[in-house]
Amino acid sequence: MATSSKGDKQAVIDVLNKARAAELAAILQYMSQHYELADNDYGQFAQQLKLIAIDEMRHAEMLAERILILGGTPTSKPDMETKKKQPVLEIFKLDEKLEDGAVRDYNEFLQVCREARDYVSAKVFELLIVEEQIHLEHFQDIIRHIEELGDAYLATQVGGAAEGPPARGFVASQGGAADAQPQA
Ligand SMILES: [Fe+2]
Ligand SMILES: [Fe+2]
Repeated sequence: MATSSKGDKQAVIDVLNKARAAELAAILQYMSQHYELADNDYGQFAQQLKLIAIDEMRHAEMLAERILILGGTPTSKPDMETKKKQPVLEIFKLDEKLEDGAVRDYNEFLQVCREARDYVSAKVFELLIVEEQIHLEHFQDIIRHIEELGDAYLATQVGGAAEGPPARGFVASQGGAADAQPQA
């Protein structure tokens, strides 16, 4: 079997970086929506978006690791400006579009990896496609519920965030930083 050429390797690095730019944009977009929805008292929606943003962070990191192994430089530039202050339905329509675009692009990028015989990078895209598909279906469900049930559905999303273990960051995993808490 032929080893992959320099050009093939660069083509793989390029698609990994395109995906990384999309993941960075998704992280910023979902974090912004998370704060705005929480601020508007849509605690359930906010909590779900926070967790999805963390999924995208994991994706961005996996892509960066793979880019570095291949000798490339992971981009730090999101491929889209964060949209703000959108009505609830518009928020989820945007998210549906982002996830749908990710599934489509990543399928294309997967082919680039296969053609370059880089099956490890292909595996990364296979995993990402499965997870973006889950996000896509989640957003489609929300849109359908809003369109079919309207305010009755939105009312069920009001209030505190869903119970569950909080997403732990680095500081919490080290046992917290009591001194760093903001003063009441
Ligand atoms: Fe992602
Ligand atoms: Fe996603």
